[in-house]
Amino acid sequence: MCGIIGIASNKPVSINIINSLKKLEYRGYDSAGLATLINNKIDEKKCSGRVEELEKILFKNPSDGNLGIGHVRWATHGVPNVLNAHPHSSEIVSVVHNGIIENSDELKQKLEIKGAKFKSQTDTEVITLLITEALKTDNPLESVFKTLKQLRGSFALGIIFKNNKDIIIGARRGSPLAVGYSQDENYLGSDSYALKSMTNKISYLDDGDLCVLTKDSVEFYDEDKKKINKKIYNLSDDKNTSDKGDYKNFMSKEIFEQPTTAKNCINEYIDTLKKDINIYNFPIQPKEINKIVLIGCGTAYHSCLVAKYWFEELTTIDVEIDIASEFRYRKLRFNYRNLYIFVSQSGETADTAAALDLCKKNKVKTCSIVNAVESTIARNSDWVLPIHAGPEIGVASTKAFLGQMIVLYILCLKLAKSRDDINNASYHELLDRFKSLPESIKKTLKIESSIQSMAKEFIDAKGSMFLGRGYSYPIALEGALKLKELSYLHAEGYPAGEMKHGPLALIEEGLPVIVIAPKDKYFEKTLSNMQEVIARGGKILFITDHKKELINENIRFGVRVPFVDTLLSPILFTIPIQLLAYHVALLKNCDIDKPRNLAKSVTVE
Ligand code: G6P
Repeated sequence: MCGIIGIASNKPVSINIINSLKKLEYRGYDSAGLATLINNKIDEKKCSGRVEELEKILFKNPSDGNLGIGHVRWATHGVPNVLNAHPHSSEIVSVVHNGIIENSDELKQKLEIKGAKFKSQTDTEVITLLITEALKTDNPLESVFKTLKQLRGSFALGIIFKNNKDIIIGARRGSPLAVGYSQDENYLGSDSYALKSMTNKISYLDDGDLCVLTKDSVEFYDEDKKKINKKIYNLSDDKNTSDKGDYKNFMSKEIFEQPTTAKNCINEYIDTLKKDINIYNFPIQPKEINKIVLIGCGTAYHSCLVAKYWFEELTTIDVEIDIASEFRYRKLRFNYRNLYIFVSQSGETADTAAALDLCKKNKVKTCSIVNAVESTIARNSDWVLPIHAGPEIGVASTKAFLGQMIVLYILCLKLAKSRDDINNASYHELLDRFKSLPESIKKTLKIESSIQSMAKEFIDAKGSMFLGRGYSYPIALEGALKLKELSYLHAEGYPAGEMKHGPLALIEEGLPVIVIAPKDKYFEKTLSNMQEVIARGGKILFITDHKKELINENIRFGVRVPFVDTLLSPILFTIPIQLLAYHVALLKNCDIDKPRNLAKSVTVE
């Protein structure tokens, strides 16, 4: 992960670098730094912790160069401290890096033999010192090419040079990098989002590309040093949604935006007049699809898991799901009649992008379900279904998860109809039930005060469990993930029927156990599993849409969500588990939008 920014301008750049770094903090927030060129010298400023700290340093001691690079770090090599913060500079060159240099130890040894001295524990410093060495005989461009040849692993780089005060060089292998254009100013950035407040004209580097920026020009080269042209994209304008308004933090804003997320998604895909779904141009004819393979990471993977239940229920297509970091290394038998679907909020997750590349190399058809439509994954797939959730800033995914589920469900309905797996009447009925979803989500959000009380049950907890069956099993996994991410409390998500095969051993007096029990075919079975937990002293927190009396001597706390439809239950039951994680984290005074050790866009393996 890590975020990179570079600006070449005719005026001082440090304020814009800081503003862009604040936008990039979702990629990492362990430390921050920048380097500008002033009076023929590299002026480096760094801090551990947040960009705010860097801003304070600059306030006391400004850095007014017209060309500079900046970085926010998510530590891989070396603890998060000032020494390991980027940029890493020598006397003549300064480098910011996102990614991992896999052969850094080997390169370091070679450099040390030649007398090089390392100041940090990072893999990045190797790049700085290799370029410094190469600059003894070569020009900047040649020195960077020479250095890149020696590197294994993934990287996006921003580099400035003391003796070439007009240029910034950017390079990409594996990790994303974008270039932005403006009047008398050009930019380098980890993504278009960081550049959006300065320009809406963007190009993207492909793997192996290198770029040379000055304030008035941008040149691109491929890995064979051949000059190439790049397409310039005009970005859509959604600046207004990246403000937290009156909310305490982005996460609460994003949770409460979910009725709108659902409405936007439904409006984009469902034609209420024609009573049909606006999804066309399938890369494989629906009746020809042999299998659907769904791939994602983290929360996106959980949406794939929910979708598996939908596809199995409504279509005759076989479904396989996988975590991207596993998929990319499996010995797979690719089939050209399989549709490979990649789910990702950011569209930049390294493992998901690599899994997609693997499919492309094997010439099978790919589809991506993404929030960021200008992302690498969207650009590289055959077919894109956007989720229209707007920018999601909180590191823990909420509204994007809901959007992913809705798009997957809509896709499932369209496929079911196109293959005649369901008849016209069922199709229209299922479409109709969708209409009330945004309103039902809004009603569900009203349970916030009950969830707030439920959250108190976690204050002294050593851990917790989330249980569900069928559609509620992925929601149990997502509930446990949200609680771990936000409140640092150990949580396990389990299919309720699996408890007796091991996890029951964890139940002890007072352990909070969240039972997710919609009124579906599993309801009675889930209650039986719950009894097994009660018998062993677990503290039951019960979430249902059943009219059944909630509180009895065995259930410590109960919350009821509105009943819509069994098929849509995972979407509604997502709300209480998000609110629960949020309120536990709030009670524990955790950093809600930037949980420790995490980042939103995970661009390393
Ligand atoms: C990170 C985020 C998660 C997210 C996962 C996958 O771990 O913290 O919230 O679910 O990446 O990200 P993606 O952008 O591919 O959905």
